[in-house]
Amino acid sequence: MSTTSIPPGVDPALVPLRTLYTGARMPAIGLGTFGSDHVSAGEIAAAVKDAASLGYRHFDCASVYGNEDRIGESFREIIGGGIRREELWVTSKLWNDKHGEADVIASCRKSLADLQLDYLDMYLIHWPFPNFHPPGCDVGSRSPDARPYIHENYMRTWRQLEKLVEMGLVRHIGTSNMTIPKLKLLLRDARIKPAVNELEMHPHMQQPELSEFLHGRGIEPIAYSPIGSPGRPERDRTPEDTVDVEDPVILAIARRLGVHPAVVCVKWACQAGATPIPFSAKHRNYLANLQGVVGAPLTADDMRAIAGVDRNCRLIKGQVFLWKAGQSWEDLWDLDGMIKQ
Ligand SMILES: NC(=O)c1ccc[n+]([C@@H]2O[C@H](COP(=O)([O-])OP(=O)(O)OC[C@H]3O[C@@H](n4cnc5c(N)ncnc54)[C@H](OP(=O)(O)O)[C@@H]3O)[C@@H](O)[C@H]2O)c1
Repeated sequence: MSTTSIPPGVDPALVPLRTLYTGARMPAIGLGTFGSDHVSAGEIAAAVKDAASLGYRHFDCASVYGNEDRIGESFREIIGGGIRREELWVTSKLWNDKHGEADVIASCRKSLADLQLDYLDMYLIHWPFPNFHPPGCDVGSRSPDARPYIHENYMRTWRQLEKLVEMGLVRHIGTSNMTIPKLKLLLRDARIKPAVNELEMHPHMQQPELSEFLHGRGIEPIAYSPIGSPGRPERDRTPEDTVDVEDPVILAIARRLGVHPAVVCVKWACQAGATPIPFSAKHRNYLANLQGVVGAPLTADDMRAIAGVDRNCRLIKGQVFLWKAGQSWEDLWDLDGMIKQ
């Protein structure tokens, strides 16, 4: 395919910023780095380096993605090439088998060493459950040690994250895959409150109640799977799942704007007040996503029309975190406002 029609990158100064409660400013779009088991660490590391040359400054990493060491090589080259560390926004996440008090700081240090950085802008607890399952396992896989959410244990892990801030290894801490009832407990007990919460958010899973809760408490929502994760692993697919990029409303807007429906999803998340972190390892696609958030906004009619396509369709259900027989994945998400035990 010819690349002559691909325009150059985006001036990072044009990318919208989110101001966190600390006053720090975070680019309102990041590049996801989970290869969904089919994009290699090398391809993702190459995309990170290229994306930085196009104007991306925010990168969403995690130890469980199995590629932080390769991405670290890219960060070294990016910084060696003249982009200052302070211009980058790097997030990493603590995996479920490292919630133990003795494991948190060591796990963060490992991510820092792999990423070749001396601090992280953001460190998240990836899931509120400590329930280990091996990478790439089947959806029916259950850990014999699996437990429900136990707030006292979560707080022990959180205290270690707070310590990471005090040690200067991490600038901000946050949560991921949390619900309102769990966040209420955390906000009651945290010494350092979360600066962000990562949540699944795309036109078919808009989560207005959780977004409003977060905004109301000065916590920035980070929209993961903002395109509806069309490349997600087979284990994360069920027959009920719907496809955002095939939605007639999204398709019509995309046609009018002359962009891929994925770009409409990214623009929507950003305009809805979240920070999308779309994944792509394809130059053309991650460039289009970045251009999407600096280009002309969706109209008020577009935003209204997209508000009408919400189907509350959760794609990343988390079945592998269930802790007893006969449960359904809904038990992980506190739908009736109570934390299931
Ligand atoms: N905190 C959590 O628990 C959690 C969970 C899931 C994800 N995440 C984070 O969120 C990131 C994004 O989520 P995701 O990877 O699940 O899904 P996503 O960003 O919704 O979708 C990624 C897919 O969309 C395609 N795509 C991207 N831009 C496109 C464009 N402009 N045109 C056409 N296709 C496009 C990509 O294909 P190509 O590669 O072919 O472009 C890829 O298959 C992850 O990488 C990860 O960093 C976090």
